[in-house]
Amino acid sequence: MIRIETMHALRDTLRTAVAAGHRVRFVPTMGALHDGHASLIRTARADGGFVLVSDFVNPTQFGPAEDFARYPRTPDDDVVCAAAAGADAIWFPRVDDIYPPGDGTRVAVGAMGSVWEGAHRPGHFDGVATVVAKLLAATQAGVIYLGEKDFQQTVIVRQLVRDLLFTTEVVMAPTVREADGLALSSRNRYLSIDDRAAAVAIWRGLRAAAGLAEQGERDAALVRRALHDAIGAEPRVHLQYAELVDPVTLEPVHRLDTPARAIVAALVGTTRLIDNVLLLPSSP
Ligand code: PAJ
Repeated sequence: MIRIETMHALRDTLRTAVAAGHRVRFVPTMGALHDGHASLIRTARADGGFVLVSDFVNPTQFGPAEDFARYPRTPDDDVVCAAAAGADAIWFPRVDDIYPPGDGTRVAVGAMGSVWEGAHRPGHFDGVATVVAKLLAATQAGVIYLGEKDFQQTVIVRQLVRDLLFTTEVVMAPTVREADGLALSSRNRYLSIDDRAAAVAIWRGLRAAAGLAEQGERDAALVRRALHDAIGAEPRVHLQYAELVDPVTLEPVHRLDTPARAIVAALVGTTRLIDNVLLLPSSP
C-alpha cells in the first residue's frame, strides 16, 4: 500500500492507476480508523479498481466548542488498518493542501444542513460538504463510500454530488456494531465504563422502533414513543433528538407506509453519540 503525503504524489499515483484502467474508489475518513472504516474499505476492495483512503481531520466541520484539537490522531495505526482492509493507497493531506493560503470558497448545503445534526452543530455540514467537494475534485473519484452510521451525511453528500454535477457514484455501506449493538465510533473511547454500558440503550430504542415497523405498526407517533421510552429508561443517556424521518427529505413522517429512518442523537456523559436504523414497514 502506498502512503501519500503530498498533492504531487497524489496526482502521480492517480495518474498511474487511471492509466492502468482502474476506477478510483474513494473512502474519505478523519482517521482513528476502526472496523467501521475498515468495512467501507473492504466493500470498496471487493468492488475492484483502485482503493484510495483519505485521512484528514477536517477543521471546517468542527464548531468552536467542539473536539477538533482533541480528536484522536493515530496515523501509524491507520496505515496498518487500511492496508489490512485492502486499500491501495492512504492519503494524508496537510491542512494547506485542502485549504491553500488565502482560501475562501465554501459550499453551503442549504436547508438539509440545518436540521437534526445541523441544528445541534451549526455549520457542520457546510464544512463536510466543502471538504468532500475538495476531496472529490482532488481525487476524481468514480465512487465514494460512506457509512450508513452518519445517515444525514450520506443524504447531504448525495445532494452535493447532484447539485455540483459531480459524476461520482455514492455507495452507502452498513453500520458496523459492537456485539451489544453500539455503533462503532472514534468517540466511543471517551465513554466511562458505566456510560459505555448505558450507551446500548440507543440501539435498544432503535431496535424496538424497527421491530414495531416490521410487525406492521404504521402510526409513527406510537413508534416514536417506543423509541423515546426505551432510550429514556436509561438515565445516563440524554436525548437530543429521536425522530422518524423521510429518508430523502429528512422531514418527520406521520405514517410508516413507506420506508423511513429512525435517527437519534444523545449525550452520554460528555460524549455525543448518533445512530439510526431503517424502518421497513411490513407488506400488508
Ligand atoms: P469519519 O467519522 O472518520 O467517518 C468516515 C466514514 O466512516 C464515514 O462515511 C462514516 O459514516 C463511516 N463510519 C463511521 N463509523 C462507522 C460504523 N460504525 N459503521 C460503518 N461506517 C462507519 O464522516 C467523516 O469521517 C467525515 O465527515 C468525512 C466524510 C471524512 C469528511 O470529513
